[in-house]
Amino acid sequence: MNATTDITEEIRELKEKRNAVILAHSYQRPEVQDIADFVGDSLGLARKAANTDAEVIVFCGVHFMAETASILSPDKKVLLPDIDAGCSLAATITADELRKWKAEHPGAVVVSYVNTSADVKAETDYCCTSSNAVHVVNAIPRDKEVLFCPDMFLGLHVKRQTGRTNMHIWAGECHVHAGIRPEHIQVQRDAHPHAEFLMHPECGCVSQLLYMQGLNESCAMEDAKILSTEGMVNYAKESPSNEFIIATETGILHRLKKVNPTKSFHAVSGCAECKFMKMITLPKILRALHEDLYVITVPPAIAERALQAIQRMVAIG
Ligand code: 13P
Ligand code: SF4
Repeated sequence: MNATTDITEEIRELKEKRNAVILAHSYQRPEVQDIADFVGDSLGLARKAANTDAEVIVFCGVHFMAETASILSPDKKVLLPDIDAGCSLAATITADELRKWKAEHPGAVVVSYVNTSADVKAETDYCCTSSNAVHVVNAIPRDKEVLFCPDMFLGLHVKRQTGRTNMHIWAGECHVHAGIRPEHIQVQRDAHPHAEFLMHPECGCVSQLLYMQGLNESCAMEDAKILSTEGMVNYAKESPSNEFIIATETGILHRLKKVNPTKSFHAVSGCAECKFMKMITLPKILRALHEDLYVITVPPAIAERALQAIQRMVAIG
């Protein structure tokens, strides 16, 4: 037995003993995904957290995801194995900044990407994820102004898909996806000319600005499929193609390969790694189960207000 098998066994035993469930985002390390009871995108994980019978949820993801789980399951103990697992995108907007923005647009409906703190969600009408952002914005009457935060690239994608002109977009970005440049895409597309190209809407290249200004000619974007992480997994499964170029955090390649063992996947950029997602390790999961580290809670007054926005997100497919 090697060290990984040992720790895996220990985690499994302790998980049973504590009636715990391990939820992992698709950007997690391969060995963390392999030990999880469920691997998915932020929407899928929120749904699982809301429906689990387990007493303890070990959340292998980042802080805002664990907060969301705690808001949805206040009677469960939610553990985030590393308290420093934050999100550079969520950090781009505070509740104070959102309140100020709302005051400038009275009557506007606020749509926040789930990558936001609980405080920001409490000031939000609808949360959304990359997999349902277009549906959420389409559910809002067209005569209502929309404030969309915090991801500008996802916002531009939604604005384009919905054809909405009364949508204002916060200028936030995720450092991992914003770091994916047209030249990375070009290199991979030249190397794999028959591969399909799947791209997360947080990527800077999705920006309608690039598209409209014709700058996309150099990165051959016109046949890109813009998909959430779960959308990528489902698309690759259904597609008759055998080869794909993937523009998002590299952790998803493990899941894509596991679900499609006969197909090939190429990361558009090996540098697209989220250091926050990678903070969760097997030893930290074991410690979390042993020592109850770190318990994520949300003050009831904030949780109550955030819950409605999250429930709307979970309800809209
Ligand atoms: P998904 O909503 O596709 O899971 O993405 C979450 C995220 O953090 C993207 O960087
Ligand atoms: Fe946040 Fe970006 Fe990491 Fe996703 S990949 S958790 S948006 S920093």
